[in-house]
Amino acid sequence: MGKDVIIACDFSSKVEVVDFLSIFTEEKPYVKIGMELFYGEGPDIVKHIKPMGHKIFLDLKLHDIPNTVMQAMKVLSDLNIDMCNVHAAGTISMMEAAIKGLTRADGSRPILIGVTQLTSTDEARMHKEILIDKPLDEVVLHYAKNVKAAGLDGVVCSPLEAGQVHQVCGNDFLTITPGIRFAEGSVGDQVRVTTPAKAKEMGSDYIVVGRPITSAKNPIEVYRKCLEEFID
Ligand code: C5P
Repeated sequence: MGKDVIIACDFSSKVEVVDFLSIFTEEKPYVKIGMELFYGEGPDIVKHIKPMGHKIFLDLKLHDIPNTVMQAMKVLSDLNIDMCNVHAAGTISMMEAAIKGLTRADGSRPILIGVTQLTSTDEARMHKEILIDKPLDEVVLHYAKNVKAAGLDGVVCSPLEAGQVHQVCGNDFLTITPGIRFAEGSVGDQVRVTTPAKAKEMGSDYIVVGRPITSAKNPIEVYRKCLEEFID
């Protein structure tokens, strides 16, 4: 599974995302579709973008009882997406059920990724509100081990954690890393950020880049800069 740059298409309507993607006439970038677009436009958004030639990471972060997740994954698998995800906190049996639901009759399935702790959850909140009293990095690595034990392909994590995750779970275990910024760009609401070059150095397998590309004056130029730094 090769390294790639995934563009987070955090737009609120099909018109906006299709307008944005139509500027890419040479490359067909891997795109991430999140809850806002999927809930607003329905599964049709995937059926519309997929034939445009893009790979799709459907970022819906499922978390429910195993049977419900399995049935939902069957529906997502039929949409012909390339990657999707669940919360690792749903337990190993939920993640195993997700794989079962996602696997098609011919044995193929999209890449399945586990979300460890959201980057919006800091250690203090995790201690105080979720009553997990271990250090955050220990929790992330423990969740990553559960994700691997359940047979999933990798985790979403900070690029700063990618090296440690590979050390514990192996180099074939994928790290999908948001929080990418260029040295000269604005950080926005992200806290722990890294450049594409640094993410490559730290062993990320896929970087997820949103606003630095989607809000750029010339998105194609920035996308190419990401590819150049991260892959070449
Ligand atoms: O615009 P920006 O580059 O910050 O977009 C990053 C994308 O990655 C957003 O879609 C965000 O929801 C997602 N993400 C994240 N941190 C996580 C998980 C997902 O930034 N831990």
